[in-house]
Amino acid sequence: MRPRPNRLQQLPEQYFVALLARVAAAAAQEGEPLVDLGRGNPETGPPPHVIEALRQAVLDPKAHGYAPIRGLHRTRAAIAARYRDVYGVELDPETEVAVIPGTKTGIVELASVLCDDGDTLCLPDPYYPDYPSGPALAGARLATFPLQPDAGWAPDLDSAAGAAALYLNYPSNPCAVCAPPGAFEDAVAWAQRTGGAVVHDAAYIDIVFDGRAPQSFLATKGAKDIGVELWSMSKTFGMAGWRVGFVVGNAEIVERINLLNDHSRVGIFAPIQAAVIAALEGPQDSVAERVAAYERRRDVLAQALPEAPISEGTFYLWVRLPDGLDAGRLLTEYRVAVAPGEGFGPSGAGWARLSVAIDDATVELAADRLHHAFAAVAA
Ligand SMILES: Cc1ncc(COP(=O)(O)O)c(C=O)c1O
Repeated sequence: MRPRPNRLQQLPEQYFVALLARVAAAAAQEGEPLVDLGRGNPETGPPPHVIEALRQAVLDPKAHGYAPIRGLHRTRAAIAARYRDVYGVELDPETEVAVIPGTKTGIVELASVLCDDGDTLCLPDPYYPDYPSGPALAGARLATFPLQPDAGWAPDLDSAAGAAALYLNYPSNPCAVCAPPGAFEDAVAWAQRTGGAVVHDAAYIDIVFDGRAPQSFLATKGAKDIGVELWSMSKTFGMAGWRVGFVVGNAEIVERINLLNDHSRVGIFAPIQAAVIAALEGPQDSVAERVAAYERRRDVLAQALPEAPISEGTFYLWVRLPDGLDAGRLLTEYRVAVAPGEGFGPSGAGWARLSVAIDDATVELAADRLHHAFAAVAA
């Protein structure tokens, strides 16, 4: 028996799986230890009180059954309280919050929630490489709209005219900028004009530098009428492996994602939700410490490069590579792994994404190697 061809064949190559394999193969070769700036995986886990909350919860004999599919009320209330207190957005925990197993799940599922066969889903270019998987599985067409490098990577939505939905992502992976003034308002106006929906991926919402305040798309007037935001435990609290995130905002879209999950998933393990509540409601010093560490490492890496790239948030630097230098050469000659820009959409060619989600000493080493690599091609 051979399974029949189906939509799975439409899926693009999984960029990060392929990248990890290339980096592992290079690391296994003889030479200096490899420095890996290709990763998007926080290097520090959550603070001790979060681990303790999991430990306590798991000791409860009643904790091991199926959890409610739509999440515990307290989990939904905790994220709603964070939205009110940190981002100035009111959410109804009953109707405007869905608990999901990580925002990557939401990214893929929202394409099916918002598009039918043949509809168009429009992505920013450059985009996070996991975005094209959703439209492939939904049978939707993928289109892109440009982010404009000379306008702070602001979206130009003219080419999104006929789309059923568009995705936005600030702080941007890979461009590492916060939303430029007016970008969220323009997206709301686009949706009001066209009837399309907006999904804002806010995975890095709290990782912002130089005294900036975290900014939710939902704080924009009219946003809740036309869209949702994806919020992740992974980056704010270093809980990437725990697989918890939220879809918040428009009640009809939230209900649809809940409906899909009613049919395809069971709830998230209750002790994990206890730890999520502890993270959301407990002391927040770890978030500030994490941001300060990324900001410090950003400065080290930026100073080593000839033209310091902008990085206003996330834990990335988005860097244009000079003629004669590409990700392959950095990997084999200089033993520095980066995420090649080609995987981030048509305009990513010639660029690379560098991550500072690694310890200080390794960032210093990376800075030194990159400095030499850039200097060698400039000479
Ligand atoms: C822009 C962006 N969105 C979403 C995700 C996925 O996050 P999660 O761990 O919540 O699935 C990532 C992870 O790197 C990301 O960079």
